[in-house]
Amino acid sequence: MDAFIDALMAKMTLQEKIGQLNLLTSDWESTGPTMRSGYQDDIKAGRVGAIFNAYTAKYTRDLQRLAVEDTRLKIPLLFGYDVIHGHRTIFPISLGEAASWDMDAIETSARVSAEEAAAEGIHWTFSPMVDIARDARWGRVSEGAGEDVFLGSRIARARVHGYQGDDLARTDTILATAKHFAAYGAAQAGRDYHTVDISDRTLRDTYLPPFKAAVDAGVASFMTSFNEVDGVPASGNKYLLTDTLRDKWGFDGFVVTDYTSIAEMVPHGYAKDKAQAGEQAINAGVDMDMQSAIFMDDLAKSVAEGRVSVAAIDRSVRRILEAKYRLGLFEDPYRYADEAREKATLYKPEYLEAARDVARKSMVLLKNEGNALPLAASAKSIALIGPLGDSKADMIGSWAAAGDRRTRPVSVLEGLKARAPSGTSVTYAKGASYEFEAAGKTDGFAEALALARKSDVIIAAMGEKWDMTGEAASRTSLDLPGNQEALLRQLVATGKPVVLLLMSGRPNSIGWAQDHVAAILHAWYPGTMGGHAVADVLFGDYNPSGKLPITFPRNVGQEPIHYDMKHTGRPIELGAPGAKYVSRYLDVPNSPLYPFGYGLSYTTFGYSPVSLSASSMGRSGSIVASATVTNTGTRAGEEVVQLYVQDMVGSVTRPVQELKGFEKIALAPGESRTVQFTVRPEDLAFTRADMSFGWEPGEYRLWIAPSSGAKASTPVEFTITE
Ligand code: IFM
Repeated sequence: MDAFIDALMAKMTLQEKIGQLNLLTSDWESTGPTMRSGYQDDIKAGRVGAIFNAYTAKYTRDLQRLAVEDTRLKIPLLFGYDVIHGHRTIFPISLGEAASWDMDAIETSARVSAEEAAAEGIHWTFSPMVDIARDARWGRVSEGAGEDVFLGSRIARARVHGYQGDDLARTDTILATAKHFAAYGAAQAGRDYHTVDISDRTLRDTYLPPFKAAVDAGVASFMTSFNEVDGVPASGNKYLLTDTLRDKWGFDGFVVTDYTSIAEMVPHGYAKDKAQAGEQAINAGVDMDMQSAIFMDDLAKSVAEGRVSVAAIDRSVRRILEAKYRLGLFEDPYRYADEAREKATLYKPEYLEAARDVARKSMVLLKNEGNALPLAASAKSIALIGPLGDSKADMIGSWAAAGDRRTRPVSVLEGLKARAPSGTSVTYAKGASYEFEAAGKTDGFAEALALARKSDVIIAAMGEKWDMTGEAASRTSLDLPGNQEALLRQLVATGKPVVLLLMSGRPNSIGWAQDHVAAILHAWYPGTMGGHAVADVLFGDYNPSGKLPITFPRNVGQEPIHYDMKHTGRPIELGAPGAKYVSRYLDVPNSPLYPFGYGLSYTTFGYSPVSLSASSMGRSGSIVASATVTNTGTRAGEEVVQLYVQDMVGSVTRPVQELKGFEKIALAPGESRTVQFTVRPEDLAFTRADMSFGWEPGEYRLWIAPSSGAKASTPVEFTITE
């Protein structure tokens, strides 16, 4: 590869080199605020190295032909796209997939996505989004793996493997992108694109580890974020892009910016004009400019005037050519654009089956009073009520870029009707609306209530419209939007059993529902096969096994809230109940509505006390913690067994608990399994007072539990010696 690229670069003019550094959107769709017309002319003129928002074998072939036939050096284009939770066959939104805590399922989703996308001429996905998200107001919580560093890092690895496989030269694998680097999820007050102001320690210990996990998994590219980090926009941030990513982590792929984020350094107040922004970006370590066209327009002048070196440009060009080489594009620029393969690949039955399986694994049973679920055989008339009951568009959620919203998705109504036993009716009334403007209105209530009164059970399919999460979809309230809760209250007042089927891309404030409905199932946006997957769970063909990857607050005022908070000097436990002068709210408890890691099953699980193989370990030692988990109910089920550790005293304050392991196990009724976790000192490392990364000797507590909110047995203690 090196000799080939050396020889190619020796032939390239400065303009041809700069051409490789530009990524432009096609006019098929827009995923940002600006478009540039004439991108096809830019390709023919050798001004473009990569194109996004273009797919299908035919269209990518046509564009590729412009690069290969009309430019002097015939360097093929790279085609990128937002293949986030499926390409054509849409899987649950990423946050939903994370709720499965099932790495094989998540890797399968990425694998299927890659196979479909690659068959449509796509070489490169802008996924996985590995941003830790701890503020449910931020719309993009739906796109990541939730709030936790450990879980998020494991999922980052699974997704990178899924997309890239073991061999990028295969035509069914694609390049992955770890995005958005970095700390995008820490936007103040959850408002998208807003300022981020966090300590360097928090950056390193909370926001960076999933990116490091992606590097370790061999991710091919990184995308910068829109936000600033310590006053420097990410696309001009040398500390992130060079000192950390390259020098510390040894990343050898290429870095692309997010959409026009180089140009945005001007309104950020970091660059005086576009040319300076371009110089700041390339000198900080950016390789490819998404959509600003600043490198294209201004970089040659910056080189001529000595503000950017040719060496910096060569460095970036080489990385981009290497990616193209690894994909085999120099051998055959059209190898991904194969219409016969495209036809044979999209929506394969096994892909649809995989999407259904991942969807049911992603669902989280939040409440199930009196075993209201699964639906009893005696429930002969089911009233399906709510705006999400008969919607196809909502099923696939946001960032389902090439997903069909109109015909393919199986709605909840279709799924329930297809599965309902003969003699059981499923009747639908919309009743309420999720549109914000519907608040206070009651049209539709009478029809829904009449249906409810004559039915045996009510399924209230409520939540958020699909585009209320995702990019540029922040909210200041986490309530069910529109007039949904008002109708829900009236449905409960009928005295009929009500099951809330929640569909949304973020934690919602559903405290009233928790107190009053019989059962709550969170189905996220479950994807193309979502309606069937919902039916699988509601009728009990699949026993729910999902656990929350993000904390659900009691109300929006608790945000940001996460399970691994610090103690404070006045923890609430210091005072008597209701005491003043301790860290608490006057109006709600400190605890969330549902903690991270929480989720019920149609069966029950018992946990034995934890046993440790030793009560202390030295620097090269390890301790095995084990607990026996028993299925104490009457149905087979799966349980995510979670290991939490608390570092009692540190050179800086430490979280009240941290997830350090998990295992998802399947147990038949009455069956027991002993789950073991090995803990080593390096598993407990953090950024210490002197900013070095490592563990500290001292006292620790550990417990094995069904969620972060439940210490199933008394924590056990151990020490690490010098
Ligand atoms: O990949 C996305 C990114 O997540 C947000 N801005 C646009 C990009 C390309 O569509």
